[in-house]
Amino acid sequence: MEITLKSPLDMHLHLRDGDMLANIAPYSAKNFSGAIIMPNLVPPITTKESLLAYKDQIIKATNGESFTPYMTLFFKNYSYEFLKQIKDEITSIKLYPDGATTNSDGGVSSFDIEELRETLEAMSELNIPLNIHGETNDFVMDREKNFIPIYRQLATTFPKLKIIMEHITTKDAVDVLDEYDNLYATITLHHLLITLDDVAGGMLKPHLFCKPIAKRDEDRDALLKLALTAHPKVMFGSDSAPHPKSAKEACGCAAGIFTAPTALQELASLFDRHNALDNLQSFISDNGVNIYQIKPIYKEVTLVKKDFIIADEYNGVVPFNNSTTCSWSIK
Ligand code: NCD
Ligand code: ZN
Repeated sequence: MEITLKSPLDMHLHLRDGDMLANIAPYSAKNFSGAIIMPNLVPPITTKESLLAYKDQIIKATNGESFTPYMTLFFKNYSYEFLKQIKDEITSIKLYPDGATTNSDGGVSSFDIEELRETLEAMSELNIPLNIHGETNDFVMDREKNFIPIYRQLATTFPKLKIIMEHITTKDAVDVLDEYDNLYATITLHHLLITLDDVAGGMLKPHLFCKPIAKRDEDRDALLKLALTAHPKVMFGSDSAPHPKSAKEACGCAAGIFTAPTALQELASLFDRHNALDNLQSFISDNGVNIYQIKPIYKEVTLVKKDFIIADEYNGVVPFNNSTTCSWSIK
């Protein structure tokens, strides 16, 4: 059994910078045609200079592979003029609530619409999509659910703004998706596979710890249904978020799961188990192309039903499901 994916895309990816970038970027560049690159560096990407310098670093790190880094800015209040002159360099703008996750300090601390209006109206007018890390600072299991009224308010106030609910983890987010034409979502691999029980139900698993935290069975099942049917408003976004092993296996574990080298193989295996391989192309590429209106580099990646042993580490970073066997591999 074989499947050839055309121009696979990762619509939510952390590539970091410096040595980490050099160590992990080649995995994404090899398996994907492009990726939406998250701007949560330290300091975050908020200027044209830092954006272009970061893009250069990524291109160097991906070293001749045909791979497009779709760049994003870290949301803050920007003027129309600034957005107009940076528009052609960015694919979207990523909004983090202040302190919600890794490297999100300096994000938005008030969702008072009036405080955001000028920037969001400019984005709407210039057709720049908005990616949102949708979590409040409430009890950890309720953070995404409690953010949904904010999604609703943004979707209604700015009906022409494309809003992407990033890495959704709850049935509540699934339910709101079809209520507003301008809401879309990304789903990770890990949230299709694990629940909180896998993270903390037995011995604590630091390599399964991420934001938003994995939720309940019914949430995972709702996400699975969307992904396996390749609902046209959802796309694959790995949220592959590498941290050094020492930052994960630590007292005070960093949030983030690393899936870049293994996501395609694991997705093929998951879709195959559910007899949904025919829908993988839409989930992994076509939906993202339609939603973002991008033209990815043509690239074919063929997967075969053949065991693949996930390594214990990839260049010093422990991947999701390390040292287990996946039933699909890249040809
Ligand atoms: C991400 C990271 O490490 O940058 N961590 C995570 O747990 N997903 C940030 C994010 O997307 O929340
Ligand atoms: Zn992320």
